Parts: sequence; C-alpha cells; structure tokens
Amino acid sequence: MIYSRYVVPLVVAVAITMISSVGCHKNGSGAVVPDPFLKDIAPFPVGVSVGYKDLTSNVSYQTVVRNEMSSVSVENAQKWAGLHPEQNRFDFTQADYIVEWARKNGQRVHGHNLLWHSYNPGWVTAFQGDSAAWENLMKTHIQTVLQHFRGRVVSWDVVNEAFMDDGRLRNVETNPKDGSIWRQKLGPDYVARAFQYARAADPTVLLFYNDYGQESKPAKVKATLDMVADFKKRNIPIDGLGIQMHMGVSQANDGIRNVIQQFAGTGLPVHISELDILASDWKKDPTLQYTDALQTKQADKYRFIAQTYKTLVPKPQQFGITTWNVGDTDSWITKQGYTDWPLLFDQDYKRKKTYYAFAEGLKN
Ligand code: XIL
Repeated sequence: MIYSRYVVPLVVAVAITMISSVGCHKNGSGAVVPDPFLKDIAPFPVGVSVGYKDLTSNVSYQTVVRNEMSSVSVENAQKWAGLHPEQNRFDFTQADYIVEWARKNGQRVHGHNLLWHSYNPGWVTAFQGDSAAWENLMKTHIQTVLQHFRGRVVSWDVVNEAFMDDGRLRNVETNPKDGSIWRQKLGPDYVARAFQYARAADPTVLLFYNDYGQESKPAKVKATLDMVADFKKRNIPIDGLGIQMHMGVSQANDGIRNVIQQFAGTGLPVHISELDILASDWKKDPTLQYTDALQTKQADKYRFIAQTYKTLVPKPQQFGITTWNVGDTDSWITKQGYTDWPLLFDQDYKRKKTYYAFAEGLKN
C-alpha cells in the first residue's frame, strides 16, 4: 500500500530527525535513547517567556519551547503597550496568539503584567485626569485584561517592580528616570488596590507580586515581606511572589539562598520568573570571550539555582522556574547590546553547558 510504503517511513524519518536534533544518551542497559526534556525532568513547571516575533518567525524556537517547557510567560505582548494602544482600544492579537499556541501544546500560561512603571504607551504617560480618572484607568485595564484571559491564563504578575533597591516605593516625583507614574497618580496604596481589582475581576486566577534584584538587595526582600504581612492583616489578596533573577554570573550564592528561603517562609507559592545569568556581569565589553571557564562558572550558577529552589521551597509552593526567552540571541540582554550568552540555548537553539547543569539541578 502507498500509505505504508511512503507515509510510514516518512513519519519515522521525521521522528528520528526530531529526536536526533536534541541529543541521545545510553540508558542503563546500553540502549541509545533520546535525552529527556526539561519538563520531563523537573518536579515543578519549567518555562520560558515567549516573544511574538520570535514565535511566529522561527521553527527551531517553536520546537524548543514546545518540547522542553511546561509553562509559558508572555514577554511583552501583555504589557500595557502591548495590549492597550489607545485609551478606548485594546488589541489582543499578539497576546492571544501566544496564549492559544501554548494552550494547544498543553502548557500553562503565566500572565505578565498588569501594572509596571515601564513599557506604558505614550497616551498613558500623557494622560490628564484627576485621581478618580487615574483610578478608573487602572481599574478598567485590569478588569478588561483579566476578563479577556479568564480561564486561559492561570496566574498574573499583578504589579511588577514597585520597589526601589532601598525598599521604598518607586515614584516619578523622587525618581524621574525610572519612577512609577502609578505611584505618583494613585498614591502609596495603589499596589493593594491593584490586587483587589484583580481578585474582583477573576476570583480564581493566581495573583503574584514580581520584582528583580532581591538576591543582592536585602532591603527589597524586606519591603516585599512587609507588604505580604500587611496584605494578610488587611485581607488584601496575594497568591505568590516572583523573583525575576536577572543576575550576573558573579552573584553570591548567599543572596540567592536568602531570598528563596525568606519568600518560601511566607507560605506563598514562589516563582523564579525571569531567570537569565549574565556572563558579562552587567559590563558592556565587546571583547568578552565565552571561555570554558566562564561557561562552567555560569553553568554552576544555573545548577545552584535549580537545586536551591527545589530544596528550599516546599513542594506545594513550587510554582516553577521560568527563563527569560529561549536562545542567547533572543535575550533582552544581548538585544541591549551586551556581549553575552545568558540563557540555556545558543543562537542555533542547541543545548548549552548551562542547560545540562540546570537539568542536573532539577533532577530529583
Ligand atoms: C523586557 C523584555 O524582555 C524586552 O523585550 C522589553 O524591551 C523590555 O522588557 N523585567 C521584567 C520584564 O519584568 O518585563 C522585562 O522584559 C525584563 C525586566
């Protein structure tokens, strides 16, 4: 039959190609078997953030995300500038594409984010109105977005990066360059109200507070813990804490351990939400070489993070570990002009030393 003569061998050939492109190893009885994927190794969800352009233009990118990951975060398409181009117009096209693509693959989708000082469209920054008008702006956005994605996105970073390194709330008035217009227009309790609006719009979705740099800024850890305690006292809903972990390769392990441990102590789910490790240590040096020694140092850090998370976060609180995009050239770090290789896959989507070390750390 034509079917068995042509189609079956073709399917087998395609399957072999797919398997061989990800690598093989010998099992205990000496048989050659395909290497497992991260999602099969990890005892908790493992994810990446996904960019719309990357996803729609690159088959290797799609293959890696589909095969390796059990969770997807949306890199930019759900931010204000991604979803809300004009005051009275939302555009869900790109975000819906990513969300549906991930759901088709059986992946969990984590939403990012409802409120941030950055990535706001020009019309928001220029918006004129009294405090009631600003309140309405925030509330309407949160309600519309949560209702739109209801049942499809399981969790959201409700507020992103509200604190400065010293633990005070970011504010445009004190910090014109990277202050928060939300704090300026809505007052210091805007974070709590954002969580309340989110809960009212979707009673089942998980609500996260997400921030960066806690591994090197103890004041930020304290500010977050104080906020959680205050929320508990006042009955403000919060369901999880995000630790971004954009970090230099020389970041001390103590700081990493400290934030994971302290956040786990709240009893809330903990998400390592945007992991990447900068070989450059945040220095723009075009002559930097990705030497074997540097690769090993970076791989050790990835292994340490996976192991520490797995050990210190109690199982029911293990929301997962998400890296910030897939291949080194997709990374927001290299796109900002750093000579760097911050991720688990190289520019050709091959698994790197970091990948294997991270996988080791994930293993039970
Ligand atoms: C970054 C994206 O990766 C870039 O493509 C975009 O230009 C700027 O935002 N903290 C966050 C993320 O919470 O949303 C940021 O993502 C990286 C830092």
